[in-house]
Amino acid sequence: MLSEKVSEALNKQIKMEGDSSQVYLAMASWAEVQGFEGISTFMYTQSDEERMHMLKLIKYVNQRGGQAKVGATLEPTLDVTNFKALFKQLLQHEIKVSESINNLVGITLDERDFATHNFLQWYVAEQIEEEATARYILDKINLIGDDKGGLYLFDNEMKNFVSPAANAQ
Ligand code: FEO
Repeated sequence: MLSEKVSEALNKQIKMEGDSSQVYLAMASWAEVQGFEGISTFMYTQSDEERMHMLKLIKYVNQRGGQAKVGATLEPTLDVTNFKALFKQLLQHEIKVSESINNLVGITLDERDFATHNFLQWYVAEQIEEEATARYILDKINLIGDDKGGLYLFDNEMKNFVSPAANAQ
């Protein structure tokens, strides 16, 4: 059985993962309209992954005798000044998610909920990978700048993007 504190923190995380899915979805849609097929494919896939993160939490809460909350999701506001701004925003978002997961893990220790602590290790590892991916992409964008040819090649690369962190495992 989940304690009230753990249950509340998990429900907050459910909302955050749902919001993350929306952020990626908004980015996917923007990139698609701009004609960047690779970036948009990557973002659509990420959006699905974030939804999967949300579902995994919902099922866990319900399995442990809690009641997962499915609330309204935030309408994302995107900074689409340029690609650098967009991916910077993405990295900031993932850092915020990592902080939230860390906070959640801390709560499970305070509450001596070792089962949830164990369950959350998957999210800890996932966040390392997602931050690494966002940093990798941002580094590339910094190198390319506003060079149209570079952006074209980058977009092509993104069609079959495999996280550098996934390669390292
Ligand atoms: Fe599931 Fe990128 O946070």
